[in-house]
Amino acid sequence: MHDDLKDLLSSLAEEVAAADSVSALEAVRVETLGKKGRLTGLLKQLGALPAEERSERGAALNAVKQTLGELLEARAATLRDAEIDARLARERIDVTLPIRPEAEGRIHPISQTMDEIVAIFGQMGFSVAEGPDIEDDFHNFTALNIPPEHPARQMHDTFYLPERPEGRNLLRTHTSPVQIRTMSTRQPPIRIIAPGRTYRCDSDMTHTPMFHQVEALVVDRSTHFGHLKGAITEFVRAYFELDDVPVRLRPSFFPFTEPSAEVDIGCSRKGGELKIGSGGDWLEIMGCGMVHPNVLRASGIDPDVYQGFAFGMGIERIAMLKYGIPDLRTFYDSDLRWLRHYGFVPLDVPTTTGGLAR
Ligand code: PHE
Repeated sequence: MHDDLKDLLSSLAEEVAAADSVSALEAVRVETLGKKGRLTGLLKQLGALPAEERSERGAALNAVKQTLGELLEARAATLRDAEIDARLARERIDVTLPIRPEAEGRIHPISQTMDEIVAIFGQMGFSVAEGPDIEDDFHNFTALNIPPEHPARQMHDTFYLPERPEGRNLLRTHTSPVQIRTMSTRQPPIRIIAPGRTYRCDSDMTHTPMFHQVEALVVDRSTHFGHLKGAITEFVRAYFELDDVPVRLRPSFFPFTEPSAEVDIGCSRKGGELKIGSGGDWLEIMGCGMVHPNVLRASGIDPDVYQGFAFGMGIERIAMLKYGIPDLRTFYDSDLRWLRHYGFVPLDVPTTTGGLAR
């Protein structure tokens, strides 16, 4: 091999060795072996040489080309490995580090209570139904047999949205509109609960403008008042995790049920301490009744064939009773100290077999 080619090869080898990235190496390759590359140029000149020199020079150039190709390939492999190593080092995760503080989050007592309610009714064969927080007058009032002059329809009780040609929307004042939405989209048998947010223009010691309710609705051919009391009694026992809780139905009135009742549960208030169970005292926890025929009719269900029961209760209230939370307003203060105290551990999912709250 001529000295000029030896020099060329050693300078190319230096360039290859100096390339410190895949792209720098590619630049060296293009400069030498590309269309206008140095080695390509030398190969092109072969044709101009006399025949006897041509074959020797050609063989030498091809040897240079092959050696260069091998050098490039070896360097490329080294650089690729180095890049992978650098990336592994950069993206390394120290699995022995302590968990981030966020992982110490808690389930809010409202979410926990809703999960418990869903677990209990789920076991009783109920499924969960939902409706929008922003409702229309028809679903929140009219279809529920609530007359135009009813006080709940007043501005000072209900949050209304701005007037529109289609009518004025509102923030639902109870979960009962989900009864209408469920019955108007499917025929009985129906067995649902509807937990969710509700809103009323009310704010004092015992009322927050946003609160939560859970509605239950059962409709079938022979559903009767005994089923209503049985379902409520079962629920109350399961929820308070007590073998026996007295349940009393007291006559009452709701436009959308007939007959209607308030549900009281047994408790004791001796010594100023409230305890759920048989203690001779009573505590109101929900409203209920048999679904009014007008409500069935407004939802496209024939009241001569089907009848049903419904009840609705406040979730904050029963959460406060079970977990000894004294002040309703603290639920929505977003105070982390409160949440750490009253909150629940995320992976303790409530089930009626495994225990609701631990
Ligand atoms: N919607 C009623 C309320 O908010 C509760 C209720 C629900 C009563 C279902 C009877 C039947 O007070």
